Amino acid sequence: MYLGLDLGTSSLKALLVDDAQRVVAEASAPLTVQRPRDGWAEQDAATWEGACRDAVRGLGADLSGVRAIGLAGHMHGATLVGADDRPLRPCLLWNDTRAHAQAAAMDDADARRITGNIVFPGFTAPKVAWVRETEPEIWDRCVRVLLPKDYLRLWLTGDAVSEMSDASGTAWLDTGARDWSDALLDRQGMSRDHMPSLVEGSAPSGRLRDAVADDLGLPRGVVVAGGAGDNAAAAMGTGAVAPGRGFVSLGTSGVLFVSTAAHAPDPESAVHAFCHAVPGTWHQMGVILAAADSLEWAATLTGRTAADLGSVPMAPPGRTLFLPYLGGERTPHNDAAVRGAALGLEHATGAEALGRAVMEGVAFAFRDSLDALRGTGTRVDDLLAVGGGAASETWLRMVATALDMPLSVPAGGAFGAALGACRLAMMADGAGVDVAAPPPVERVVEPAGDLRGAYDDAQARYRAAYAAVKAVG
Ligand code: XUL
Repeated sequence: MYLGLDLGTSSLKALLVDDAQRVVAEASAPLTVQRPRDGWAEQDAATWEGACRDAVRGLGADLSGVRAIGLAGHMHGATLVGADDRPLRPCLLWNDTRAHAQAAAMDDADARRITGNIVFPGFTAPKVAWVRETEPEIWDRCVRVLLPKDYLRLWLTGDAVSEMSDASGTAWLDTGARDWSDALLDRQGMSRDHMPSLVEGSAPSGRLRDAVADDLGLPRGVVVAGGAGDNAAAAMGTGAVAPGRGFVSLGTSGVLFVSTAAHAPDPESAVHAFCHAVPGTWHQMGVILAAADSLEWAATLTGRTAADLGSVPMAPPGRTLFLPYLGGERTPHNDAAVRGAALGLEHATGAEALGRAVMEGVAFAFRDSLDALRGTGTRVDDLLAVGGGAASETWLRMVATALDMPLSVPAGGAFGAALGACRLAMMADGAGVDVAAPPPVERVVEPAGDLRGAYDDAQARYRAAYAAVKAVG
């Protein structure tokens, strides 16, 4: 049996599979995000330990046969740890854009050449620079900087280790060479001493500590695989390893992910070009900061649930247009300052019309990402749909129509990052990459051909609206 732990933004999921990857049990424990100021997003790292305990115990299964554990987690978070291996302050999350000034200062030609990426405000390095400048007393006590799932690993194994896919989102990795860049660390007055060591996602990274194993009911000394950032892990779970294969993730963030034949950087496009979770492989992705997060926002505002808003029938885009830039945007704008907007509101606009506009706006944002990826010369052949928002058939249809590409919906529910983490655990236990096969497809959501023209017009309006909203601030 193999255990996958996926530290998501809104919950930590535990998935137990048998040797044939059949689901034995799954459980999750909720997590919250604190937003003390506009543009800030934090999570208390200590709550991840409790959530991990709750989720593993919630499996309610005999875990004595677990042979390896895999980890996945939300990316880019800056978890600053002191000499006692405890967090020094709340983790600054992937969608925290407070470090935009530090990011702009770091984002020069050298950084882009080495990392293959823009230094986005949400990446780890600028956030650490913000802490150093703003909270020097915290920085003085900081012994190590860890990504979220690597903090969980430290708690599980006692080892400070990261892996290539998540490390790609720090702005400290030489992404082509798959190693920390001494030059980039040095520019920030840091060295490898501040960093975890690196393994491939499919390699062992350490073994479970006895005390944690006893506490969680797991075998002592069980291997913990390198694992992956949540998106590369979801790619392992959906079999998106060969070039051209990818997925659309309608999670808190929206991600359009495609595996590439080689490291394919093109920072100007605001496309992310990162290491994949298995050796010698890379991928690209476009990232929308608020996808299902925008629908949750609309649900809270209107007193409805996201599921309720997501159940409207498909229709041509109406007058109401929503820009989902609630906390700024990454692809294709790299714009931490822009904020969301709803245009074309009428007396008759109610919760349903707003929900529809939010889902359409996210669909248009996915189209922007697809065009950005294709603009770098990347082939996009096959896309699966994953993430909580994929439960809305209408939202999937909107995204398929905006992309003008069919979206395959995997059969069963477990084809996300947690399954990818299980698969990486299997590889760390000796299995080959063939365990990361594409899942059986339950159905294919086709673009609404009759709405092609209407979607093209709406996409053009969406793009013009970004320019207009940016101009007025
Ligand atoms: C990817 C990104 C998000 C997080 C949270 O660059 O920031 O997808 O990994 O899921």
